[in-house]
Amino acid sequence: MRQKMAVGNWKMNGTGAALAELQALAAAQGAARAEILICPAATLLSRAADVVKDSSIAIGGQNCHAATAGAHTGDISAEMLKDAGASAVILGHSERRADHAESSEEVGAKVCAAWEAGLMTVICVGETLTEREAGDTLNVVAAQLKASLPDGATGENTVLAYEPVWSIGTGKVPSLAQIAKVHNFIRAELTTRFGAEMAESTRLLYGGSVKPGNAAQIFAVSNVDGALVGGASLTAEEFIPIISALDAS
Ligand code: 13P
Repeated sequence: MRQKMAVGNWKMNGTGAALAELQALAAAQGAARAEILICPAATLLSRAADVVKDSSIAIGGQNCHAATAGAHTGDISAEMLKDAGASAVILGHSERRADHAESSEEVGAKVCAAWEAGLMTVICVGETLTEREAGDTLNVVAAQLKASLPDGATGENTVLAYEPVWSIGTGKVPSLAQIAKVHNFIRAELTTRFGAEMAESTRLLYGGSVKPGNAAQIFAVSNVDGALVGGASLTAEEFIPIISALDAS
């Protein structure tokens, strides 16, 4: 039985004042059954870890470097994330693939570094609108999965997030049938490559314009084990009903 999971990706939002939202979330979510992971900006990691230390909420990074240390100005290693209080890291987000030209091979190398440091990885895949309209969605997702997911992936060290690029921050959500098709495909791909035990224990999250108003429908889709949420994770007011919908699913 896979534990449901709600991940909040704060992206490049929030200074110290935003920790009040995390405080409110921690106070409200003591009884949540779903696993909750909040990924704030790197500058907030250690303070966020402090805020949630008496709760079941975990803290994660949004990226790491593939190397353990060295001359990489402005970058952060997986060990540094762990040292700051993170237990997980998002890797391969489409904004990093687009803004920093991260290839799936680079994502795969980062995943290995994160595992080495003892971090769980939330690995993102998803097609652009052009790719969807060309009928390439499953090919794109398959290629991203193949190169971004190293051998050694397990249900403990890996969570996968399907985030169609055209749905991120746009308010546009795929039909429930479209979500089901991709999630069923990902589960089948994992089974083929890693075997049934790994595939059945790995959480598959949907991400892209998840809001309190659509969360329950999305969580009812087959092979959706939770959500990776951007905008609606920034306030406790919006994120709490999403977690409640997940707990009720
Ligand atoms: P939104 O929920 O703001 O669409 O962002 C989704 C996302 O990119 C989470 O990683």
